[in-house]
Amino acid sequence: MRISIIGTGYVGLVSGACLAEVGHDVTCVDLEPTKVDAINAGRAPIHEAGLPELLQRTVGRKLRATADLAGAVQASDVTFIAVGTPAADGKIDLQYVRRAAEQIGAAMRGKPGRHTVVVKSTVIPGTTDGAVREALEAGSGLVAGKDFGLGMNPEFLTEGQAIEDFMRPDRIVLGGIDEQTRDLLAAIYAPFAGAPVIRTNTKTAEMIKYASNAALATMISFANEFGRLCSTLGDVDVRDVMRGVHASTYFTSRLPDGTPVKAAIASFLEAGCGFGGSCLPKDVTALVAQGRDHGLPMSMLASVLEINAGQPGEVLRLVHKHVPDLKGVRVAVLGIAFKPDTDDVRESPAFPIIRLLRQEGAVVSAYDPIARPADHPGLAGVQLAGSMREVLEGAAVVVLVTRWSEFQQLPDMLRAMGSTPLVVDGRRVLEPSAFRAYEGIGR
Ligand SMILES: NC(=O)c1ccc[n+]([C@@H]2O[C@H](COP(=O)([O-])OP(=O)(O)OC[C@H]3O[C@@H](n4cnc5c(N)ncnc54)[C@H](O)[C@@H]3O)[C@@H](O)[C@H]2O)c1
Repeated sequence: MRISIIGTGYVGLVSGACLAEVGHDVTCVDLEPTKVDAINAGRAPIHEAGLPELLQRTVGRKLRATADLAGAVQASDVTFIAVGTPAADGKIDLQYVRRAAEQIGAAMRGKPGRHTVVVKSTVIPGTTDGAVREALEAGSGLVAGKDFGLGMNPEFLTEGQAIEDFMRPDRIVLGGIDEQTRDLLAAIYAPFAGAPVIRTNTKTAEMIKYASNAALATMISFANEFGRLCSTLGDVDVRDVMRGVHASTYFTSRLPDGTPVKAAIASFLEAGCGFGGSCLPKDVTALVAQGRDHGLPMSMLASVLEINAGQPGEVLRLVHKHVPDLKGVRVAVLGIAFKPDTDDVRESPAFPIIRLLRQEGAVVSAYDPIARPADHPGLAGVQLAGSMREVLEGAAVVVLVTRWSEFQQLPDMLRAMGSTPLVVDGRRVLEPSAFRAYEGIGR
């Protein structure tokens, strides 16, 4: 199939490269010339395991990039929309989706044959068959369902393991306004046989994505609320509590020989300094706003966000237990990315933690093995270190924000440096006894 993908970010590029890998003819479209040039040169503009090798195999054969949206649409049978859908003023901002749909609509005008447009971006239920349909019909002068196909195919990849997730999907949701669109999507995904397929309408497809992300965010805030109660009561560690919860057969099954297998979902039932990233915060925010707009207060999800917003303050509370006055105190922040194995820093809890530290006069330096967005406003006044050893130099307090495996070296490195700072573990990945002074979320 000839496929064009509008928006070549984490989702558009990974989807494009993987669809090319399984034999489709893919053109990735982006506004940013640097991304287009990098891809055409076989270089990955983002950090994602396996992506450079995948691009080496596909670029110049089955995959190419361009800034020419109209040309890409006209030379393809189906167009995916994979542009960003950030939150603005507490709601979903659909401006990029609308703009892309307008441009695709204009490019479809006069194009021979039946074109199909598929929304892959995460959009609030009703968007594909509402705002996107309207923009496409206005731009093309055509009618959805009669003259062109319209679908919604949410993406469930996780940054850091995105290629693996796309190539071995846990589910494939094929949303369409008609059977013809769903059949076409099924043909595109035929090479991924074996994954459960859900054929449905576009609104249900949109809701499945939100419900999935809302469930994960809820589990994190659930664990964090328990973490707060544990640290308030004393003599009870949320990590031990959650270990006990994880042991239930709902979370841990046993192989016939008795070996326990913990479900991946258990990793969301862990206390920490809060969820971030380009999906969970903005998607839960968008859903709460949609409910409110329809007169339905989404009180549980609103609490999920409220608890999350308070987690950076929990980190500060732990620092204050040992260092009440942070003026002039050197603090090393370990991790800027919102999670390990990615360079994505969007909505990372590192930023509110750094802001709170700096508000109190701390001298903050930060280190991340991959994410070093020097011009990010959240890092203004922060010294960016080039290595873990450098960031630890002279630090009186170390705050671990991201679960990078490199940070497991912290005890050995501090020992080698003869340094004994307070260590505040925002992810509960360190062994408390390895440090002179240790605090962990929920302990
Ligand atoms: N990042 C994830 O892990 C993830 C996972 C699942 C779903 N999603 C969803 O997928 C969507 C995309 O997310 P992302 O992280 O890939 O976004 P991103 O910000 O990394 O990429 C979006 C890209 O679209 C480009 N773009 C915007 N408007 C354009 C236009 N009119 N023409 C051409 N290019 C245009 C931008 O330049 C940018 O490169 C969002 O809705 C997101 O919620 C993301």
